[in-house]
Amino acid sequence: MPVSVVIGAQWGDEGKGKLVDLLSKECQIVARYQGGANAGHTIIWTDEKTGVQQKFVLHLVPSGIFQEGVACVIGNGVVIDPVAVMEEIRMIRDLGYEVDGRLFISHNAHLIMPYHKALDQAKERSSGGAAIGTTGRGIGPAYVDKFARSGIRVVDLLNRDVLAQKLKNAIEEKNALLKHLYGSEGLNVNQIIEEYVAFDQLIDPFVTDTAEYLNLALKEGKNVLAEGAQGALLDVDFGTYPYVTSSHPTVGGCCTGLGIPPTAINRIIGIAKAYATRVGNGPFPTELENELGEDIRRVGHEFGATTGRPRRTGWLDLVALKYTAMINGLTELAITKLDVLSGLETVQAAVAYGYDGKVSSRFPSELQTLARVTPVFTDYSGWKENIEHITDYNDLPEAARNYLQFVESFVGVPIRLVSTGPAREQTIIRY
Ligand code: GDP
Ligand code: IMO
Ligand code: MG
Repeated sequence: MPVSVVIGAQWGDEGKGKLVDLLSKECQIVARYQGGANAGHTIIWTDEKTGVQQKFVLHLVPSGIFQEGVACVIGNGVVIDPVAVMEEIRMIRDLGYEVDGRLFISHNAHLIMPYHKALDQAKERSSGGAAIGTTGRGIGPAYVDKFARSGIRVVDLLNRDVLAQKLKNAIEEKNALLKHLYGSEGLNVNQIIEEYVAFDQLIDPFVTDTAEYLNLALKEGKNVLAEGAQGALLDVDFGTYPYVTSSHPTVGGCCTGLGIPPTAINRIIGIAKAYATRVGNGPFPTELENELGEDIRRVGHEFGATTGRPRRTGWLDLVALKYTAMINGLTELAITKLDVLSGLETVQAAVAYGYDGKVSSRFPSELQTLARVTPVFTDYSGWKENIEHITDYNDLPEAARNYLQFVESFVGVPIRLVSTGPAREQTIIRY
């Protein structure tokens, strides 16, 4: 019956893919509830049949696909690029993993079309210094169409006449915007129609009423893991607006993005790195724009899994983490990339913000305030040991345990998982 939700508790890239893959072993279904191919969820595992270590970056297919017997759902709240999803399915099959009969795509999910990507990129280009730094995957424009009630859904892909008419109308409208507002090239209506009508047979075997599928599964007592993309600080309502994504990575997005009731949720796992990163623009109070920040980027391989962009790095921000724990009702925390901090003399974490001569423990919603706060840091002793192969909490160096203990008592949420490396087995489970 129960649903566990995995949520990024920072600005994305916390290691959701790694932990969802690991936790999906205890579930029958993994379901993605929002976002689209802006997500890049990295999984590193050893193939049981060949003994070979594999690495895969998933963008749309849920991170349970490499666990045998686990079904995967792409929910109605996700915006799906049909080209990207079919390419991902092909690559997963090429690795020798079964997709047919295991992947279910919501008939109600909205589609990302070439004009969404063109508009996303044109808007960013024309915004100059005010650009959001999007992934360019068409996410914002696709959600705009959804809420403007002019989007095209998966179900429309299954009817060629309906699709052709909807595409024609949409492309004519978007071409006017592209040409006259952004001075870009328009898109070829017939070429797009020809390319996209061919998706009907390709996608049809996967399409179903996923809300019904999930609710039936819950009734049968199956365990569902809901996989968030992005992170709570990128939520369109609760994040650092306008430097956010266009969906709800926070816990409510799980109900609306899958069609499951909040009463089915019994576990809400927030994932946070032992430090902080952010890709794209927007305020980042604890950012380290110095050599140490570069060292963390190098040691932590902090480059975007979707766009390859260098991620901005900084200290753990406990003001922000306490805020995301509150708005999501986190029942537990998972701390990842603790290994990256090994070797530092001192580790710092922000416990308050200074602003206009005052000190506050509140995460401000006004962008101008957040952009100007000075973090108040607490220092912790670092640890020298390599912790990459530790799987028992008690084997962690005392300084690392002290740091984690402070995090859980400050945030008021127990740390149940600690990740000490990118591979499945490099995980400490405390329950
Ligand atoms: P996601 O978007 O939240 O799934 O995270 P990404 O896959 O975009 O980024 C996380 C990166 O950190 C990936 O390259 C992972 O392989 C890697 N990773 C995850 N957990 C750990 C960890 O505990 N230690 C280290 N060193 N790398 C990790
Ligand atoms: P995962 O699921 C990190 C960021 C972009 C940009 C902002 C808006 O891998 O954690 P968008 O393309 O969504 O309109 O971009 O959000 N962003 C992410 N940052 N991880 C992600 O996903 C992200 N998806 C979007 O960099 O700042
Ligand atoms: Mg990512």
